[in-house]
Amino acid sequence: MNEHWENCLLQSWGIKTQLTKLAGEFDLNFKAETADGCRFLLKVMRVGCDVGLVEMQCQALQHIHASSQLVNVPSVVPSTAERNFETLVDEAGKVRLVWVLSFLEGVDYAGFTPKSPYLISQLGTSIANLHLALEGFQHKSLQRDFKWNLTQAAWINDSLTFITDPQRRELLRSVMMDYQDQLDIIRALPLFATHNDINDYNLLVSASLKEEPKISGIVDFGDMCSSPRICDLAIAGAYIVLDHTQPEQALSSLVAAYHAVLPLDGDKIDLIYPLLRSRLAVSVVNSTIEALDKPDDPYVIISQGPAWRFLESSSIVHSIVTARLRVACDLPVTKSAARVGRYLSQEVRGNCAAIIGMALDKAPCHSLSVEGCSVPQNPFELTSLEALTLGDATAAASDISLGYYNEPRLIYTNNAFRLNPWKASNRRTVHLGVDVFAPTGTKICAPLDGVIKVIENRLEPLDYGGMVIIKHMTPHGDRFYSLYGHLDPAVCQSLHQGQKLKAGEVFAVLGTPQQNGGWAPHLHLQLAMGIEGLGADWPGVADPDERDFWNALCPNPAALLNLPDEKIGYVSLNESVILQQRQNDFGANLKLSYSKPVMLLRGWRHYLFDQWGRPYLDAYNNVPHIGHANPRLQARISEQLKRLNTNTRYLHPAQSALARKLTSKMPEQLSVCFFVNSGSEANELALRLARAVTGGKHMVTLDHGYHGNTTGAIDISAYKFNAPGGVGKPDWVWLMDIPDVYGGKFRQPETDCAHLYSQQVDDAINGITQVGGKLAGFIAETFPSVGGQVIPPKGYLQSVYRKIRAAGGLCIADEVQTGLGRLGEYYFAFQQQEVLPDIVVLGKPIGNGHPIGVVVTTRAIADSFAEGPEFFSTFGGSTLSCVVAKEVLDIVDDEALQANALLVGKQALEGLTMLKEKHEVIGDVRGMGLFIGVDFVTHQSHRKPATDVATYVVNRLRDYRIFAGLEGPNNNVLKIRPPLTIEADDVVILLETLDLILSETAITRLTQNINT
Ligand SMILES: Cc1ncc(COP(=O)(O)O)c(C=O)c1O
Repeated sequence: MNEHWENCLLQSWGIKTQLTKLAGEFDLNFKAETADGCRFLLKVMRVGCDVGLVEMQCQALQHIHASSQLVNVPSVVPSTAERNFETLVDEAGKVRLVWVLSFLEGVDYAGFTPKSPYLISQLGTSIANLHLALEGFQHKSLQRDFKWNLTQAAWINDSLTFITDPQRRELLRSVMMDYQDQLDIIRALPLFATHNDINDYNLLVSASLKEEPKISGIVDFGDMCSSPRICDLAIAGAYIVLDHTQPEQALSSLVAAYHAVLPLDGDKIDLIYPLLRSRLAVSVVNSTIEALDKPDDPYVIISQGPAWRFLESSSIVHSIVTARLRVACDLPVTKSAARVGRYLSQEVRGNCAAIIGMALDKAPCHSLSVEGCSVPQNPFELTSLEALTLGDATAAASDISLGYYNEPRLIYTNNAFRLNPWKASNRRTVHLGVDVFAPTGTKICAPLDGVIKVIENRLEPLDYGGMVIIKHMTPHGDRFYSLYGHLDPAVCQSLHQGQKLKAGEVFAVLGTPQQNGGWAPHLHLQLAMGIEGLGADWPGVADPDERDFWNALCPNPAALLNLPDEKIGYVSLNESVILQQRQNDFGANLKLSYSKPVMLLRGWRHYLFDQWGRPYLDAYNNVPHIGHANPRLQARISEQLKRLNTNTRYLHPAQSALARKLTSKMPEQLSVCFFVNSGSEANELALRLARAVTGGKHMVTLDHGYHGNTTGAIDISAYKFNAPGGVGKPDWVWLMDIPDVYGGKFRQPETDCAHLYSQQVDDAINGITQVGGKLAGFIAETFPSVGGQVIPPKGYLQSVYRKIRAAGGLCIADEVQTGLGRLGEYYFAFQQQEVLPDIVVLGKPIGNGHPIGVVVTTRAIADSFAEGPEFFSTFGGSTLSCVVAKEVLDIVDDEALQANALLVGKQALEGLTMLKEKHEVIGDVRGMGLFIGVDFVTHQSHRKPATDVATYVVNRLRDYRIFAGLEGPNNNVLKIRPPLTIEADDVVILLETLDLILSETAITRLTQNINT
C-alpha cells in the first residue's frame, strides 16, 4: 500500500518520499520522509469523505498561518497543480481525497510527562492564540450537525439507556441536567470557528532537557465546527483533567492562561465545568455505543476509564472548581463576593458586637509562623504540652491575645493535614482564621445577626472540639458565613440548626483543652464567602500552594472583630527583596543554589522547611551530620553558652574530652589534635606540618580535588585553580588523575586501575626531582567528592602512600567529606583503603554547622612542628567548639548513626542499582554508606557524560522538594550525602521520585533517539 501512495505523492506533489503508516481510525495517515530528511504528513481521506470538510480544514490552516505567528499548526503543501488536495484512486480503485501537510515535530501530549502547570498554561495560551487566529474564518461546512458539537450534546439523553450500570446512568443524567440548566446561556453566546477536538492526541509538545516544554503544535482540524469558544476551552479541559494528580489545579492553569490572552467574564467561567463534564458524558456514551459494534475490542471500553474516574470522583465539587477558576482568573471567588467584601469593610467593621465581649484593638498578636517561632520543636510532632501552651508567649502581658490570619505554621502535624502519605509530604500549613486566645469559659457572642447552620463536636486531637457555623445575610441579600471553633461542646448542645441569633447574643463558651482538640484555650474564627460545596468541612488551614484560592474563599475575618485587616494579617517575607538585599550586600560570586533560589527557615533532622512550611527532603547537606536542629546538641550549646566560651590558652576539660573521643576512633599512632575553625584552615595547617617536618614544599594531589578556600588550600585544589578565572596551578603542585574506574582515564573491568592510577605518582616525583624541588607530601580527599563521588580501587592509596613515603613525603588524608561514620562500614575512608595517613583533616560534619576543623597527627610530627613558633587559633578549640564536636561524636555513637548509614545507604545503593537496570542514562551507581554518586551518561553503552540529564534531574528533584547535588569534572554525577539521620521511608521517596523523573519524556526521548 505504501508504494502506491509513495507513487501518488511523487506524481501529484513531485516529492519522493518513504512512507510510514500512522494511527488513524477512518482515514489513512502517513509520515512521508524524503531522502534528505524533510518530513510531511500524507492524509488519504476515507472513501466518500465530504469535499467540503477537507476544503474547510485547508482554508482554516491557511487562515491561521496568514493571521498569526503565535500558534503552531501544520501548513498545507499544495500539489504541483497548485491545489490543496487531489482526488486520486486507491489500490482498490476507490476515489479518495488526498492532501499533504507539513510535519510538526513533537511528542503527543497524551504520552508526555510531566504535565506541569507551566505546560498546561502554555496550552491555555495556545488555545487563546488559536481562537484569535481563527477570528473571521468562515466556511459553510462549519455549520454541521454532529455529535461532537457541544451545543448539541443533548443527543445523549436519548442514548443513556446504553449505559447499563444504573448508578452511572444516573450520574450522566445529572451531568446532563447541569448542562441543560446552562443551555440557554450557551446558545446565546456568539459563534466562532473552533477546533472542537483539542484532545491530548491532537497536541504536540516539544521535549527538551534544557528548556521548559512547549506546545509545539495543534493538529487535526477534522472536527471543526461553529460553536462558542468556551466550548473549545472546556473540551481541552476535559482531557487535561483526566488522571491528572491535581485536576482542579490543572484546569485552573489552563483557564487562567487562556484568560490572560482572551479575557473571560465570570458567567463564561461558570460554564466551563458543566461543559467539560458534558463532553466527557458524550465521550463515554459514544464509545459505549461504538463498543456494541466492536464487541471484541476491549480497548473501546478501557479507554473510557479515565473519563469515568473523573466523573465519578467524589472529591471534585462543582462550586469549588468554579470558584477556583474564578480566582485563577483574578475574578471575585463567587458572584456576590465583591459585594460581601464591600459590605464587611464599609458597614460591618466597627459596628459588630464584640465577639468576646470586649474590644480587641489593644490585644497583642503573637506569631506562630515558621519564621517567627520555634514551636513545635519537631515539625512532625507537636507535643501536647506545646499545643497547650501556644498562647503563653503573651499570656503574662495580657489574658487576651491574637494569632494571625494567613500565617504559615508548622503546628499542624496530624496526618489529617498531610496531602500525601509520606511523612515529608506537602501539608496544609496556612491558617485561614484568626485565633483569639482567651480563658476557658469565655463567652462567645454573635458579631452580627445570623442563623445557626452547623453545630458539631470534632473529637480528633488537634481538631476543633465544639464548632458552630453561622449564616449571615447582607442587606442586599447576599449570604456569607462565620465559623467558631474550639468551643465547649456541652454548651453547643443546647443550640439547634436554624436557630436565629441576634448580634451580641451569647451562643457558646470557649472549651477546655480536653474539649477543644488539646489546644490552649482559644477561639478559631473564620469567614467564608460561600459554603456551597464546603458543607461543614471547611479547612481551617490551607495548602500554601493553594493560598490564593483559600484566601479568596475565606478572607481575613478582621472586620468581624472590628479590627483593621492589617492588625491580624500575616505579612510574609518578601523573597525578591531579600534576594535584592543579598545582591547589594555581597559579591556576585557568592552563589545561590537553583535558578529560583530557596529560602529555608527551619530544619529538623534531614528535613528543611521554607517560609510557607513546605517540607524538603535534604539528601544533600552533609554538614548537619546528626541532623538539622538536633535538640540534644541545641540543649548542650545553650547550657555551655550560659557558662563559658573561651580559648585554648586556659585549661578546660572539654578540650581533652574532644581530643580523646576523636583519637579513640583513630589508629593509635594518630594521637595528637589541633583544633581550628574550618576544613580550609585545617588543610592549611596540614600543609604547614608537612613542610615543617620534611623541609620540602612540593605537593602531589588529585585533579579536580577541593581542599578549601584559603590561599594555601586553593593552591592544592585543582577544582578551584583550574576553574574559569582561577589562579592556575602553582609550580610546586603536581596533579594525578582521579582514580575513577568508571569514567576516568583507566576503567574497570579492562585494566588494573589501582596500579595504573597510582603509577602517576612516579611521574610527579620525577618531575619534582627534575626541577630541583623537594617533596613535602601527598594530599587527597580519600574518596574524591567534588571529583564525582569516586571510590578508588582497592590498593590504590597503599601504592601511592608507599611511593610518597619512599620519596620522603608525608601522606595527608582529607576526610572532611568522608569521615565520622558516613561510610557505614568505616568510620574513616582511609580504613577502607587500609592505609595509615600521617595527618588526617576533619571539618564540616564535626561541628554539625558550628565552625570547627581538626587536624590529627602523630606525636613525632606534632613535636617537630612544635619546634617552630607557637600555634594558636583564637576560636579553634573554643570551649563551645569542643563541647559541640564532642557532643556530635557522642550522638553519632549513641544514636547508632554509623549503623544507620550502613543500613539506609545499602537500601539506597540497591535501589539505585535497580533503577540503573531500568534507565539507560544511569551509567554507574557507586558509593558507600551515605556517600553516594549516580553517574549519568547519554547511554550505558558508551559512558559519555550526560551533564544535561544530571542538571535536569537535580532541578526536577528540587521541584519535588528533594535536595541533591551535582559533582564530577563534567557535573554529571548526582551527589547524595544526606544527614545520617535519613530513614528508609525517605530513601523510598527519593528512589520513587528519581524513577518518575527518569521516566519523563525529555529523558526517555534522549535514549530513544540514541537507540534508533
Ligand atoms: C574535602 C574538603 N576539604 C576541605 C574543605 C574546606 O572546608 P571549609 O569550607 O570548612 O573551609 C571542603 C569543603 O567543601 C571539602 O569538601
